[in-house]
Amino acid sequence: MKGLKILGTGRCLPDKVVTNDDMRAFVDTSDEWIRTRTGIQTRHFCAEGESTASLGVKAARLALERAGISPEDLGACVGCTCSADSAAPTVASTIQRDLGLPKHIPYFDLNAGCSGFLYGLHVTRGLLLQSDKPYALLVGAETLSRVMNFQDRGTCVIFGDGAGAVVVKLEEEAPYAYTLGAEGGDDVIYIGGYGSKEPYIHMEGQKTFRFAVEMVPWCIHELLGQSGLKLEDIDWFVLHQANKRIIDHVAKKLGMPGERFYQNIAHYGNTSAASIPIALDEMAEQGLLKRGQKLLCVGFGAGLTWGGALLEW
Ligand code: ACO
Repeated sequence: MKGLKILGTGRCLPDKVVTNDDMRAFVDTSDEWIRTRTGIQTRHFCAEGESTASLGVKAARLALERAGISPEDLGACVGCTCSADSAAPTVASTIQRDLGLPKHIPYFDLNAGCSGFLYGLHVTRGLLLQSDKPYALLVGAETLSRVMNFQDRGTCVIFGDGAGAVVVKLEEEAPYAYTLGAEGGDDVIYIGGYGSKEPYIHMEGQKTFRFAVEMVPWCIHELLGQSGLKLEDIDWFVLHQANKRIIDHVAKKLGMPGERFYQNIAHYGNTSAASIPIALDEMAEQGLLKRGQKLLCVGFGAGLTWGGALLEW
């Protein structure tokens, strides 16, 4: 089975850094509450003139440069977002325009909440299997600060803006396993948009937490079962950065050392579909990723949805 190898990554975080203390200007909260309940210390918010697409374009440019490929060899470009600037143009088509990418390949966005990047990986692989081109560009980009209710302390301290991008190659020898799913309904996480009556994020935090700590280990076991690998064979677990306590809980439940689970939620908060590609880019930058390593990525979120993929660096 042909798998996906990541060739290059990029990220873009808005310059504006908002601390937990800064959030006290909006809601009755404290640095202590946010740190202990979530692990978040700061998040980035867009300024005037920045957009989901503009962050995505910058992350995509870096990923393409670092992958060192010719854009002519791209077979697809997929944007993953639940906070698109508009229904159209899409993030992906803006990337095509701004980076002058080849026209005759698919460009589109998909929305699977915080699982979007995982859905995007599997869709991208499917597109590459049908393409005569070897590479694809996948971008997770969010400006959740634009759909946040700054009077709801249960959500506004959680989310942040940012974008991450990867260039992947379809490769014969790379391992691959995936799992995607949904448990539909609008009562647990709701994100309004495009003129809806309630244009903000609403989240039942505890229900989402319980869902995550049950589904993430399930996804990991599912991916291991499909691939015949053991927990010890995985070099890095890169989970959606929603809450430090969720990641710690999963590592403990699996009996794995926490150091194998990359975490950066302290700096960015929950950037939804952008969180895993942002984490991958940081890991690459820090020299944590070595060629040939196996990565197990799992996302979960609005939908409710979940997704996991086994990839090669
Ligand atoms: N500051 C201070 N107090 C707060 C804050 C805050 N920012 N937010 C809530 N509280 C209070 C509540 O009012 C409540 O007070 P009460 O007991 O007097 O009523 C108390 O803290 C406990 O509230 P809970 O909501 O039960 O807090 P919890 O420990 O569950 O933490 C959190 C909330 C951090 C949101 C947690 O539930 C969580 O991380 N859930 C998972 C979120 C997630 O994974 N989302 C991913 C998907 S998102 C997507 O797809 C877009």
